[in-house]
Formats: sequence, C-alpha cells, structure tokens
Amino acid sequence: MDNPVFDTIKNIDDLPTLPSIAMEVIALSRSPEVSINKVSECIYKDPPLATKVLRMANSSFYRRGSNEVDTLHRAILMMGLNEIINITTSVSVLSILPPKGSEGETLRKAFWNHCIATGLIARHIDNKLGMRSMGREFVAGLLHDIGKIILDEYFHKEYMEAHAFSIDVDCPMYDAELEVLGTTHMEIGHFLAQKWDLPGYIADVNLYHHQPIDAKFKDITALISISDLLAKAKEFSFGGDRLSFVLSDQQAWHILKQMGYPVHILDLERFTFEIEDIGEEVNRYISTVSEPGTEENVHERI
Ligand SMILES: [Fe+2]
Ligand SMILES: [Fe+2]
Repeated sequence: MDNPVFDTIKNIDDLPTLPSIAMEVIALSRSPEVSINKVSECIYKDPPLATKVLRMANSSFYRRGSNEVDTLHRAILMMGLNEIINITTSVSVLSILPPKGSEGETLRKAFWNHCIATGLIARHIDNKLGMRSMGREFVAGLLHDIGKIILDEYFHKEYMEAHAFSIDVDCPMYDAELEVLGTTHMEIGHFLAQKWDLPGYIADVNLYHHQPIDAKFKDITALISISDLLAKAKEFSFGGDRLSFVLSDQQAWHILKQMGYPVHILDLERFTFEIEDIGEEVNRYISTVSEPGTEENVHERI
C-alpha cells in the first residue's frame, strides 16, 4: 500500500547504502562458488571493515577458545562462513547508521539499545530452545526495526508526533506510525532490506515481526517477535511500546510450539532474571563495534 511518506522514502536519492564490500560479501554468500578465501579476500579489500570484523570475532560475543584469532581466514575456519557474513552485515549497518551520542540523539541511542538487546535475547532463546539459527537470530534482531531509523531520519517531526501519540494513547508504535505517517516501520524496513539486497529472512522479519503468522521464515520471525517483547519488558523500548504481556498468549509462542520447540521452558519471570545483565552486554557490544576500524594493512595477515 503506497502513501506519500513511503513514496518519498522510495525516491530519496541519498538513502543510506551498505558499503560496497558488505554488499559483495552478501552476494558472495549466495554464490555456489563461495569459499573461505574469496570471502576473506573480499573483506580485506576494506581494511577498516576487516579490522572491525576481526575485533568482533575476538570479542566475548563470538570468541571460541582462548587463542586470539588474527586472520579472517582462521576466524572463518573457527566460526564458519555464515557467522562471519553475519558479523560483516551487523558491523556495516552500524557503521552507516551509528548510535550517535550527541544531544538530540537519545532516541537513536534508545533505538539501537532496543535492537541490540533484541538480538542478544534472541541468541539466548535460540540456545535455550535448540533452534540452531546459526547467528542469523542476532542479525535479524539487530535489524528488525531498521525502518524506525529511516522514518526518524527523514520525517523526524512526524516521527516525534507518532512517538508522542503512542505514549499518549498507550498504543504500539506501528499503530501510531500508521495514524501519523500512513505507513509503518515494518513496511519501510522491508523495503530497505530488499534495497540493500539483504538475505530474505531479514526482509521477512522486518515485515512480520509484529505478525509472525504471515511470515515465510516463521521460526526466526517468531523468535524475533518474542525477543522484541522481552527487550521491551526489560525496558529496552522505543516510544509507547512498553506493553506488558503474557508469553503463552503470543502468536509467536504458539508458532514455535507448533514447530516443536520446547517453549514451555520459557518462564517469563525466570527468563527475565536470566537476562538481568543484558544492559551491560548491550553497552559492551556498542563500545566494541563503535571503536573505529584502522587503515592498517591487515591484508598482510591473510
Ligand atoms: Fe517493530
Ligand atoms: Fe522492536
């Protein structure tokens, strides 16, 4: 359903674009000729990106074993190609839409806190339920609300109106967005994921994380839907989205149950306690990913 805001966004020439190397890596991941060498060589063409990916691979979020991984080749051997592609995607998006700290940017910071918390919670639940999403759950959580950033960036005044409306009326942000802007962050996020040529599950999660029953990638969309609610329950919210809920009333909970995942072990109270330190994890993630990449010639280390 087109509307003036959506049409304007579709036609904005300087809409953020992913770095070309990140696009190349994502395209490579779909090619039958994908190999460890091709992916690592491609990332090394962008030294600051390569430094950041290596730093993330060595951070507490991803590191496996006690030894430092000093080349991308080794990182891929240890973590698998998919995880390195996930890291490259996450780092690249955060580099073009950084969590800014200056005045007036508190909403942007709150936005990323919410998204990173959603990704980290998705990873906890994925482990707990044995879903084996292979790191896709973190990227999907990180990017599930990306449409909100775009709406805020290009329609800031209206977005603030929607934000105030959601608080006044105590309704979810997507209802407030529809009321004020005539479109939703789901629609915009879906459009952006397709424009950036991100994997299909990311576009799907963007469009359906508030209505996972309609998703093609039902398991990961349901996982992100629940993680999103838990992030809000932990006060990582954006606008009037601080809603209370009962897990077993959720569409996502039923989808996962029907798919055979042991959702009965997800006790809301206990789980909220288990993710008590999520705020610290979010801060640690932001500071690791925000350190600038260097221009040093990491290529020599292949
Ligand atoms: Fe959302
Ligand atoms: Fe969200």
